[in-house]
Amino acid sequence: MASGKISRRNFLIAASGAAGALAIGGVAYYLSRMPTGVESPSQTTTLPPVATSTRTPLSYSSFDPRQPSNFSNPLVLPAPSEGVFGIIESPSMVTINVKPHRIEILPGMPTETWVYDVTRSGRSAINPVLKLKSGEKFRATLSNGVPQKTIVHWHGVIVDWKNDGHPSYAVDLGQNYDYDFTVYNRGGTYWYHPHPYPAAEQVYKGLAGFLIVEDADDENLTRSLDLELGKTDIPLAIQDKRFRQDGALEYGPNQNESFMGFLGDLILVNLTPNPYLEVDTRIYRFRILNGSTARIYRLAFLKNSEKFPFHLIGVDAGLLESPSKLDEVFLAPAERVDILLDLRTLSTGDAVLLKSLEFDPMHMEEAMMGMTQMQGGSELEEGEGFHILKIIVKNKVTQDAQIPERLSTLEPIDLSEASERPITLSTAMGSMGTMTMGPQMNQWLINGNSFDINGFAFELSRDRVEVWKITNSQQSMPHPMHIHGYHFRVLERLDSPPQVESLAVDNSGRLPTDLGLKDTILVWPGETVRVAIDFRTRFAGEQMYTFHCHNLEHEDNGMMINYKVS
Ligand code: C2O
Ligand code: CU
Ligand code: CU
Repeated sequence: MASGKISRRNFLIAASGAAGALAIGGVAYYLSRMPTGVESPSQTTTLPPVATSTRTPLSYSSFDPRQPSNFSNPLVLPAPSEGVFGIIESPSMVTINVKPHRIEILPGMPTETWVYDVTRSGRSAINPVLKLKSGEKFRATLSNGVPQKTIVHWHGVIVDWKNDGHPSYAVDLGQNYDYDFTVYNRGGTYWYHPHPYPAAEQVYKGLAGFLIVEDADDENLTRSLDLELGKTDIPLAIQDKRFRQDGALEYGPNQNESFMGFLGDLILVNLTPNPYLEVDTRIYRFRILNGSTARIYRLAFLKNSEKFPFHLIGVDAGLLESPSKLDEVFLAPAERVDILLDLRTLSTGDAVLLKSLEFDPMHMEEAMMGMTQMQGGSELEEGEGFHILKIIVKNKVTQDAQIPERLSTLEPIDLSEASERPITLSTAMGSMGTMTMGPQMNQWLINGNSFDINGFAFELSRDRVEVWKITNSQQSMPHPMHIHGYHFRVLERLDSPPQVESLAVDNSGRLPTDLGLKDTILVWPGETVRVAIDFRTRFAGEQMYTFHCHNLEHEDNGMMINYKVS
């Protein structure tokens, strides 16, 4: 088969002159825009078989996530010790190999990906779910087997900067990097991914895994609801990717896409396109990660097109104090929501769909540039509605457990001596108001800064609490802002757009997800979010951490700063 891109809009894109596309008889054939490099041949991991009816042809319509009938692939679930997302409990010393690896993501057409491989006693876990207890020690050696500099960052895990995966520590092909730290975090759903500068392409190619920390509160919950990781406690990594017809991943943002974010048009959950999951009539815990480089999801469960409520129990850095019953939640890149889905009222054969509902993506910068629509190469626009996962009830069982009213305790944060630091998010185009996009024009800035890997934007004191007042400019787009080394406590949201304000749960304009400990916070155009950060640190010496936008195309284009703690 010719290696055209799976597309229903090929002609349109070709006509608009996107880089790399050639129009041949009205059909665009994409040239690979990925550097081919010197990738060595790799093994293939076979995912569970897919229904043969979807095998040929590889056309976008059979993967289109707007069509619920396409959801016919069994979801990949983490299994103990091996396979894709294989669970490794209390890994005290592991070698993490970064390597090219072929995975059959699309039926009958293996895709070359890059993965983390941990092989122990002959069993190989790909992008393993690393499960650690709070207070446990963790040692690992990263061994780089790909032809780019890389380094692992433990997203949301509080470590000193030498263990944090700062981009200046990235190592070349053939080199190693050693990690050695104690996991001080509370229980929660964290994750790990590459953090060289730039990083987006490596994440996109497949490098991402979960790091789950367990503490006493988590153990209580697991016990009272009789949950089991990989069976009834299920990590879900949602990612959007673009494929060509030969099964190759396509990554290569054009100028517009590096300014706005690169959107995929196949929605993968645990690297499964259009997945379904068979369940019993009981309570499930889903740990949902947005592992996409740029796409924001407005998540909801639907049963017969009616919203089916769920219980939000945790966010980025662990459990909330108490659950809140919701019927939708926004999830920006790198954010996590931990939810309970109570399926006990359902009957065998019932289906519940996890969807992303339509929303206003608020790309206000387009108006500024005098453009009504910026054309990228994705079939799925940001804010369009589509399905993510189909949940089908297989067995009727009885479960008597109650969802606990109390989940955990958050330490109060003392603001009496806190100083406030303004943080502004803007674009270098700010005052230009033209469509000119010079090399310096299409960049997002933090307090006017673009990333300087060796410098730092500010220095702060290691014994203080600070309030960061993060303001996104009006002519902007939503930015998921992420801090390394510490966590956020959200104090207040001001001037939120209506679709956000309508979800607020208190007088401070906070959202249900703002009531937990966060490491990534979505700031909408025109919005100000005030967060408190306790900069007291247990690590000796000066620390240099990054603060950046987790729209990874923005981050790659400099929407990142270093800050120093001394
Ligand atoms: Cu998940 Cu600095 O990144
Ligand atoms: Cu991080
Ligand atoms: Cu951004």
